[in-house]
Amino acid sequence: MEKLIISGGKPLRGTVQISGSKNSALPIIAATLLTSEPCTIRGVPNLSDIQFMSDILRWLSVDVKHHRADGVIEARAQQPLGVAPYELVRKMRASVCLLGPLLARLHNCKVSMPGGCVIGDRPIDMHLKGLRRLGAEVVLENGYIHARCNELTGTDVFLGGRFGSTVLGTANVMMAATLAKGTTVIESSACEPEVEDLAEFLVKMGAKIKGAGSHIIEIEGVEQLHGAEHTIITDRIEAATFMIAAAITHGDVEIKGARPEHLWAVREKLEDAGVTVERTNGTVRVKSDAAWQPVDVITMPYPGFPTDMQAQMSALMTVTPGISVITEKVFPNRFMHISEMSRLGADVSLEGSSAIVKGVKRLSGAPVMASDLRASAGLVLAGLAAEGETEVNRVYHVERGYERIDQKLRALGANIERVAE
Ligand code: EPZ
Repeated sequence: MEKLIISGGKPLRGTVQISGSKNSALPIIAATLLTSEPCTIRGVPNLSDIQFMSDILRWLSVDVKHHRADGVIEARAQQPLGVAPYELVRKMRASVCLLGPLLARLHNCKVSMPGGCVIGDRPIDMHLKGLRRLGAEVVLENGYIHARCNELTGTDVFLGGRFGSTVLGTANVMMAATLAKGTTVIESSACEPEVEDLAEFLVKMGAKIKGAGSHIIEIEGVEQLHGAEHTIITDRIEAATFMIAAAITHGDVEIKGARPEHLWAVREKLEDAGVTVERTNGTVRVKSDAAWQPVDVITMPYPGFPTDMQAQMSALMTVTPGISVITEKVFPNRFMHISEMSRLGADVSLEGSSAIVKGVKRLSGAPVMASDLRASAGLVLAGLAAEGETEVNRVYHVERGYERIDQKLRALGANIERVAE
């Protein structure tokens, strides 16, 4: 295992290039199961989660070639198998998005239940409800979701839940509906840019989809889909993480490839906090030389403030004078990073699904333990701001979602090293 050692306090300056979106790439790679023809996906980030997804597809007999240096995946699912086993699925919850394409293609499949997750309870009831509405019989047996049907039939499907819409649930139902008989209308669909990107890929494969990116998606089923080429959108969460990295170090960073239209909520909160965010085409520049003000943040489905940025924003607020309240409305228990930030001297108390953050003058470096991907990103940011040396252990969590994060930060002037634990 490796860890990151950060000597904080250096302002970041320069330009960073944002990679392709992990959360777009994962369902798009799964969608290649919908056709026997070859598909080419470009702009794929080189991350362990992408590796997990490629490995599962290979297990399913899909011919997957991953040209890591070029960020290209070529996949051809001539005769996929219909069983995704626990040993592979447990490594990555996002494998649940194999369910929709496998069911649509094979009419009979088994995908292991993904199991627990450190960011909280993550049910998949809405995925299953949606597939049942399309006519599938779905049962849970021996730890597997077993879905089968004679054919799928278009209908209306409501996917709103207690915590809002579901991203991968929308992806699953949308993918299944592309090959259903008749028209499906998904109401309260997730409108994240990653869902829109998936729809764009499916349309290139011959699917008929309208409304992706809004709360109502209409899919007219077709007989079959064909191979397609697609370039993944850039990663808005990686971009936003670098925005906060620039802010928290009082730096000045140009973030290339960032799509300002995907970053409204983060930008607004940073500006409210006193950070300067300039946008031009394909670039966002973040500068911060003045004192910050505390801001209250509530995470919500897109276009609200992303839950995947909550830990990073919490890091910024730990060193912002005054009191800020960070409320988690998507995964109410996603606060594993808070006790680790306290090891760095942060003053945060948890009240239900809110973190009450009292800004301190400075954080001081210490060893901390990453618990999941975004928590570790929050700890890296806190380490960049802290005085002295911070060790972020279990760096493999960061590698699930940030391509070469240590190299990118080092190129901006951060004092960060990756060493064996
Ligand atoms: C996606 O997960 C992302 N993962 C997550 O990113 C992200 O945090 C999340 O969306 C929310 O934006 C990928 O895209 C691979 P949801 P997903 O279904 O689709 C509840 C990261 O760090 N819910 O939109 O699994 C659920 O418990 C990851 O990159 C149900 O109740 O999330 C949550 O409260 C982590 N029943 C809310 O909905 C269901 O059937 C939103 O979850 C499904 C979800």
